[in-house]
Amino acid sequence: MSNRTFTMIKPDAVKAGNIGNILQMINAAGFKIIAMKYTKISLDQAGKFYEVHKDRPFYGELTEFMSSGPIVAAILEKENAVADFRKLIGATNPAQAEEGTIRKLYAASVGENAVHGSDSDDNAKIEGDFFFSGLERF
Ligand code: CMP
Repeated sequence: MSNRTFTMIKPDAVKAGNIGNILQMINAAGFKIIAMKYTKISLDQAGKFYEVHKDRPFYGELTEFMSSGPIVAAILEKENAVADFRKLIGATNPAQAEEGTIRKLYAASVGENAVHGSDSDDNAKIEGDFFFSGLERF
């Protein structure tokens, strides 16, 4: 079990003005921010980040959406971070997300689902390293 996970507030949630609301929920749930940046990724960078999904039918839609506007990327720390953060954000498809989760509150569809959360400790490290150098972590 690791104590870190990686998240992105996706372009839909940024556009809708929900950065503050989502960060407040992350803080209230006890996650400490280790690294954070407001940035925008290219189609090529989105393709690399989501390479694991490259054979899925939604890969093109996913990478185009994730490069369509600014995002907030962050590394978060808490005991049992990966699993607890996935509970906080709710199911990938907001229609199946539990009441009170970030996706239930702020996501519109399975593609535009407001936030990303790492699905394993290994991916949390890979994804955090994709966005942040050692000098950007506190
Ligand atoms: P995320 O947690 O960022 O990781 C992979 C993403 O693929 C997922 O969130 C969804 O936004 C997206 N995704 C999964 N299934 C579909 C789908 N059927 N159509 C479009 N996007 C999808």
